[in-house]
Order: sequence, then structure tokens, then C-alpha cells
Amino acid sequence: MARRRKLYEGKAKVLYEGPEPGTIIQYFKDDATAFNNKKQGVITGKGVLNNRISEFLMTRLTEIGIPTHFVRRLNMREQLVREVEIIPVEVVIRNIAAGSIAKRFNLEEGTPLPRSIVEFYYKSDELNDPMIAEEHITAFGWAMPQDIDDMMALSLRVNDFLTGLLLGVGLRLVDFKLEFGRYYTEDSVQIVLADEISPDNCRLWDIETNEKMDKDRFRRDLGRVEEAYQEVARRLGVLPEAGPMDLKGPKAMQ
Ligand code: TMP
Repeated sequence: MARRRKLYEGKAKVLYEGPEPGTIIQYFKDDATAFNNKKQGVITGKGVLNNRISEFLMTRLTEIGIPTHFVRRLNMREQLVREVEIIPVEVVIRNIAAGSIAKRFNLEEGTPLPRSIVEFYYKSDELNDPMIAEEHITAFGWAMPQDIDDMMALSLRVNDFLTGLLLGVGLRLVDFKLEFGRYYTEDSVQIVLADEISPDNCRLWDIETNEKMDKDRFRRDLGRVEEAYQEVARRLGVLPEAGPMDLKGPKAMQ
């Protein structure tokens, strides 16, 4: 294959120029980080599994009319997406207290929240993703009030839909993080769901045992990290047939 231009390398993915203008290839790495890069490691097969899990969830969301950047999966570790201008705001939706909200308000992990709570964080590694209010988003020009309304409404629809879908496979959607982008066409601009939806950016607990089936296993050194990602993929019916050997997949081209 011809060498292609690397546009950006993040902590879990590499973005390459796509085959046509306006497209990008997302390559999913096995690298895992936590606590803003302070903890680093490798979750073998994670890239292959997240590529499939995100493909599956984005496709289901497209089917119910949620606009996303996803076009199609290309191979084990890559998917084609539409080029969007990423809004530098991480939208976190929470159903059950866990992680930072449990700490901040001294709630016991696992306490159901009175209703789903949407939070915003400024996407900046340098600043350690500080929590922000709508005021900051509009005052600093990261997005317009209408964009925020769109992101909120889409996030809540995604939450409702994914909560049900995951419940169907025995997983509780505790919380998750979404990113959005502006998709420009000739005569319009639309807010679309971007990035990925995977156990890297969701908290998923087994409905029966409350066992953590997501990146918290890596963050908190709980062990059986690979197995948790595989189990999520298996329950969603997207585990590659060939099993763990297959999960090594091809390497990123430099
Ligand atoms: P938190 O409880 O640490 O704030 O995380 C809330 C959710 O957001 C959880 O599902 C993990 C996800 N998340 C990310 O995807 N990226 C991040 O950088 C952080 C801090 C959380």
C-alpha cells in the first residue's frame, strides 16, 4: 500500500488522510492511557475490538437518525469517517454515580442519579480537560448556543438508545463521553457525532454482578482488561471469529 499522510496521532487513534477529499481514516491503536497520559499501557486487541464496537454502535445510531461521522469499516483496525471540525468540548452523560462525579459530590459509586446529567469538559491535554459550563463554551467561542443545544439533544438521544441496546446484552451504561464535530457540505453545516464509542469512553457494568467491563479495569488495575473488551464485543455479536490471534491485527503504517 502507498504511504499516506498522517494528520494527527492521539492517545488511542491515528488519523490519516482518506482516499477522497473530505474523508479521514481512523486507525485504532492498542495503546491505553489514563489520568491524562500519566498511566500508559497496552491492551492487546483493543484497537481491533474498539474499531468493531464503535462501528456497530455508530451504525445502530445512524439507523435511528443520529448524524455521525462514520462511513464504513475498512479493515481490522481502520474505519473511514467524514472529515469534521472537532468541537473542543467533551460531553459526558451520566446515569449512575461513578468516577469523578462520585468523588466530587462524595457519592457512593453505583448510586443512581436522580436523572441523567450532562457535563462539559474542555478538550485540552495541557489543561487536563477541565470541567466547564456553557458560559465558557460560548464566551471562548468554542461553540454557539445552537450547537450546544444540538449536542445536548443528540447526547440524550444517544443515551436513551444505548442504555436500552446495552441492557439487552446485560450491560448497564453507567456513563460515557461523546465528541461532536461540524460537518460542512456545500451549503450547510451540521453537528455530527464523531470520535468513537467503545469501552475506552464508556463505563459498562455487568447487569447481574456489577463487574466493570470497560477501561476502569485498566485505570484501576483490576486485571482481566483484554477479557472485558472481548466480552463486550462478544455480547454485541462483533467479536472477530478467529479469536485472540486475530486481535493482534496489522500494524499502523508510519
Ligand atoms: P470521569 O468519571 O472520569 O469524569 O469519566 C466519565 C466518563 O467519561 C467515563 O465513561 C470515562 C469517560 N472519559 C473519557 O472518555 N475520557 C476522559 O479523558 C475522561 C476523564 C473520561
